[in-house]
Amino acid sequence: MTTPQHKIGSGSGSGFGATSTAAEVLTGLDLTGKLALVTGGYSGIGLETTHALVNAGAHVVVPARRRTTAEEALAGTTNTEVDELDLADLDSVRAFAGRFLATGRHLDLLIGSAGVMACPETRVGPGWEAQFATNHLGHFALVNHLWPAIADGARVISVSSRGHHFSPIRWDDVHFGHGYDRWLAYGQAKTANVLFAVHLDRLGRDRGVRAFALHPGSIMTNLLRHVPRDEWRGNGWLDEQGNPTAYFKTPEAGAATQVWAATSPQLDGMGGVYLEDCDIAEPASEDDGVTEVRHRVGVRAYAIDPEQAARLWALSADLTGTDAISR
Ligand SMILES: NC(=O)c1ccc[n+]([C@@H]2O[C@H](COP(=O)([O-])OP(=O)(O)OC[C@H]3O[C@@H](n4cnc5c(N)ncnc54)[C@H](OP(=O)(O)O)[C@@H]3O)[C@@H](O)[C@H]2O)c1
Repeated sequence: MTTPQHKIGSGSGSGFGATSTAAEVLTGLDLTGKLALVTGGYSGIGLETTHALVNAGAHVVVPARRRTTAEEALAGTTNTEVDELDLADLDSVRAFAGRFLATGRHLDLLIGSAGVMACPETRVGPGWEAQFATNHLGHFALVNHLWPAIADGARVISVSSRGHHFSPIRWDDVHFGHGYDRWLAYGQAKTANVLFAVHLDRLGRDRGVRAFALHPGSIMTNLLRHVPRDEWRGNGWLDEQGNPTAYFKTPEAGAATQVWAATSPQLDGMGGVYLEDCDIAEPASEDDGVTEVRHRVGVRAYAIDPEQAARLWALSADLTGTDAISR
């Protein structure tokens, strides 16, 4: 059965909210014996996610573009292991997956937290737009290559963003061949993250593999590094004194929704939906009068449309030459 895109508990909600932390949503859960993989698990909310999962007993694999940086970030954190992975490079994705498959282990949780936001126009691989390639195609290829190592009953979490409100999939120009806009490119990539979870959940359901997408909230992390400093105040990120505003969650709260998505028994038997603030989000109202994306809540219809999800899956399989699941 399809999971309704509405708050859980017949609308009463999960009992958690915007300020809940990753540690709080894990209270009472024992992840001993569980194997997790967290892309980007050495920075920002990914690092907080790694810490929270380890503290609950899980072992966490952290594939990293910058191996030494990851090893430094995780020094002293037990039950983690670092390997190399550049999501913008399909050869690197294939090589990492090959090394992991060779270990014969199975993943119980896979959280795709790695991402890049609003970077200057960058081309990777055969000329692909870098945000779509890194945030979506890299994770698409990773999950497909790892599919034999994803355990029955596992959860796959696709970290999207409220930024998906910026743009649907641009079917006629996915790679911005006709004029680049860094925010539209981020928006498209984050819409792709949601559509990926929608279709993966459909394909994985028979094996009990369920997928969720989410907006973690706004958190002051390295993700903001490509946004020029003079835009920060205009975006409501800094107050008059130059300090971060209340718009931001703490990293501990920023990691909570993806940790809740990956582990909560409240989501057993569900999947293919978009979450925010540790609950299933409501559909976004298209005429709510909110003009700025940073104030938007909920999920846009184009991001959870099953037909667009299937179309994106086919396009991604074609581009990456990888499709272990639908064949
Ligand atoms: N922070 C927010 O306010 C916010 C809001 C909405 C959604 N999100 C989403 O949350 C996720 C995590 O963001 P964050 O705030 O934790 O940012 P972050 O601190 O910048 O972490 C992003 C991680 O992704 C990794 N990464 C980037 N490009 C990669 C590549 N080609 N291959 C492998 N790894 C790569 C980065 O590695 P390096 O450090 O080596 O570059 C880093 O570890 C992102 O998907 C983002 O879109 C964040």
